[in-house]
Amino acid sequence: MRILLLGKNGQVGWEAQHALAPLGEVVALDRSGRDGLCGDLGQPDALAATVRELAPAVIVNAAAYTAVDKAESEPALAQRINADAVGVLAREAAALGALLVHYSTDYVFDGSGERPWREDDATGPLSVYGTTKLAGEDAIRDSGCDHLIFRTSWVHAARGGNFARTMLRLAAERERLTVIDDQIGAPTGADLIADVSAHAIRSTLADSSLCGTYHLAASGQTSWHGYASFVIEAARAAGRPLAVREIAPIPTSSYPTPAVRPLNSRLDTTRLRIRFGLHLPDWREGVSRMLVEIG
Ligand SMILES: NC(=O)c1ccc[n+]([C@@H]2O[C@H](COP(=O)([O-])OP(=O)(O)OC[C@H]3O[C@@H](n4cnc5c(N)ncnc54)[C@H](OP(=O)(O)O)[C@@H]3O)[C@@H](O)[C@H]2O)c1
Repeated sequence: MRILLLGKNGQVGWEAQHALAPLGEVVALDRSGRDGLCGDLGQPDALAATVRELAPAVIVNAAAYTAVDKAESEPALAQRINADAVGVLAREAAALGALLVHYSTDYVFDGSGERPWREDDATGPLSVYGTTKLAGEDAIRDSGCDHLIFRTSWVHAARGGNFARTMLRLAAERERLTVIDDQIGAPTGADLIADVSAHAIRSTLADSSLCGTYHLAASGQTSWHGYASFVIEAARAAGRPLAVREIAPIPTSSYPTPAVRPLNSRLDTTRLRIRFGLHLPDWREGVSRMLVEIG
């Protein structure tokens, strides 16, 4: 079986290279492509030609325009990558009879209330990024292709820049940090997302009634302040020299950003856990493991 993986060097794409390997022959591309194959979501015609040439049984799209604040000033580009290109992949998947695996976000919701969002709750994105990600989801559902859409949240990985690494750097430099405490969600490891994807692909290839949209996040919940405090405490316990003495909680209103972010990023993962028989570990397990990896 052949699997086409797009966005191979992103947080999820990198981990997916390992997780998908036992399932079949993985053709992994980044935006620069290789051997005449196109992995650039900004080139829909060449992308479609690559899908036709490879004729994969599964397409995993880990590529996306993920610069949430920048998207506010680049809406057309975000739309092209997160929605239009996803529509191209979906129509090619439908024509081939391939399974399309795609990632989306809790930012498709408006962040109201405190109840974890269920898959069928009304969407209401607050940002360009969220709007384009929702349009990508809709394009997949409209195409009629077999698909798995995983909405996830607060993704972390040892590779590349991330929130934990930024907090550790600031904690080494400053005595006082201020961190938002009224956005609530679950930090979720890219490795967990990739592993769950591989399990779900295997099950869905055997039973296409499992196709659909699922919420995929680590268990438990915290705020960015709770997340930062956990990271800094763990680093202190590991003997890392830190200057920080106070981690002060602040509301989102004290930290304006170009894109509005939802306050309630909680995702209800019941459907995923029950339909696929999977366990989702507590967010602290994944963050602890990442901290060991980043050293
Ligand atoms: N990160 C989060 O907190 C978060 C939360 C919820 C949902 N998600 C979703 O989860 C998925 C994976 O996110 P991630 O955190 O792994 O993202 P990431 O680390 O930012 O990776 C995204 C990848 O997409 C690639 N890309 C961007 N534009 C492209 C283009 N035109 N053609 C081909 N590749 C392109 C990037 O390549 P370059 O490096 O070359 O730009 C990068 O490798 C995305 O669908 C994202 O929307 C993420």
